[in-house]
Amino acid sequence: MPDSLIEQRQLNVLVLAAGLGTRMRSDLAKVLHKLDGRPLINHVCRTATALAPESIYVVIGHQAEDVKTAVLNEIEGQKVVFVTQERQLGTGDAVNAARSYLEDSDSTLVILSGDVPMIRHGTLASLVQHHHRYLERGAACTIVTVRLGDPSGYGRIVRNDEGSFDRIVEQKDANEDERQINEINAGIYCFDTQKLFSALKAVKNHNAQGEYYLTDVPALLKDAGEDIAIFHHNDPQEIEGVNNRVQLADLERLICRRTISRLMLDSGVTFIDPKNAYISSEAVIGRDTVIHPNVTIEGSSEVGSRCEIRSGSHLVNAKVGNGVEIRDNCLIADSEIGDAAVVGPMAHLRGHAVIGEKGRIGNFVEVKKSNLGRRTKASHLTYLGDATIGEDTNIGAGVITCNYDGVRKHETHIGDRVKIGSDTMLVAPVTVGDGAVTAAGSVVIEDVPEDSLVAGVPAKVKKSLRPAQSADGSLTSS
Ligand code: UD1
Ligand code: CA
Repeated sequence: MPDSLIEQRQLNVLVLAAGLGTRMRSDLAKVLHKLDGRPLINHVCRTATALAPESIYVVIGHQAEDVKTAVLNEIEGQKVVFVTQERQLGTGDAVNAARSYLEDSDSTLVILSGDVPMIRHGTLASLVQHHHRYLERGAACTIVTVRLGDPSGYGRIVRNDEGSFDRIVEQKDANEDERQINEINAGIYCFDTQKLFSALKAVKNHNAQGEYYLTDVPALLKDAGEDIAIFHHNDPQEIEGVNNRVQLADLERLICRRTISRLMLDSGVTFIDPKNAYISSEAVIGRDTVIHPNVTIEGSSEVGSRCEIRSGSHLVNAKVGNGVEIRDNCLIADSEIGDAAVVGPMAHLRGHAVIGEKGRIGNFVEVKKSNLGRRTKASHLTYLGDATIGEDTNIGAGVITCNYDGVRKHETHIGDRVKIGSDTMLVAPVTVGDGAVTAAGSVVIEDVPEDSLVAGVPAKVKKSLRPAQSADGSLTSS
């Protein structure tokens, strides 16, 4: 086949994700376990899309609906076909579930395992290139292999006396000599689609696990006179499979370590104790920001430059400006903090809370779905929910927006330059005008006019704070 024809050859990807993953000892299907905040299957599917295949086929079985949802979350808009494997009879049977879609397709099929999440796009692209080069010489299949210090658990690559491929033997079926082989099957392959489905018909389940092994197909093809190519890869970490929670934790650590090194080397972030921080690979952190021990930053959080994030703080999809100080033990979820604000210790922002530039949120203050203007402060023991608060306003200690009447949530609006006295209860819906003051212990059940002082239970206007004008136009106090 001339080069150009090979390059134009249709490419599909098939991802195996129907298994339960018994070795995880979990009620959750293995491919739904999270790595770097995303299900394993999502990593594989995202990488698959980078190959720009015609379609991605995902074989589902255990917790099919949840796996489907996870995949669609990750690669919405791509052409994805879900194929159901009714009973999990082995990897060969899983591929066979896609027979009706693919067996007549004159194409190349890349097969990936839903539990081998670290594989990179570049490696897959080289695999496809390698396969197409060998296709010209008649290779029906290319197998990704790697040498491991400890190959246990993996299928071994048995080579013949000339050193070329003979067969794959699974760990459980291998004899003592075969178990010494350290070249393993990565569970990632490129096939001539028609030849794969033709050979698959001859796979039997006569083995230690009573399963239909996909790994029997290469030897069957070879016996039918086809060539099998090997794509030997040098990076064992990329092909590590997740079969149990120890392997999952190892990969988590690996990704986190890489993220933290990248942030230190490329972004100029200081980590006081790089081994004791958990940072999502999607987080963006600016220059000269200092991350203290035991900080967790999850999701697609963004932290600006020159920030200080103290021990025990946990950010989830947070957007933090420049020069922000987040003191110890804060939880900041789906919220924004403006430049030069100070938050904590022990503050909780959630449900799209927005703290303005130079704002201050102190000890035991919870802010939910509220917007606070520039330089506005709530320094102690406060709950602000469903509130909009202007600039330069001070919220005293122990203030609560009573936003819930037992049935519905209501809003509180507070203007600029307001002083809400300690222990004020703002019974929503309620509005406090610009420049108003509430006395300590007020229970505010009706709107407070601008520039007025209210006090009492329920709070009443006690006086106007607006400077009055005398007859000659000069200002006097009322
Ligand atoms: C498989 C390979 C092994 C290889 C290893 C690499 C086989 C028989 N063995 O072993 O040679 O070294 O991967 O990681 O293929 N699955 C289904 N349906 C099934 C069974 C499995 O969809 O009926 C899916 C699983 O969800 C998983 C993938 O196939 O994502 C691999 O299955 P797993 O049981 O983990 O295979 P290994 O024993 O790791
Ligand atoms: Ca596996």
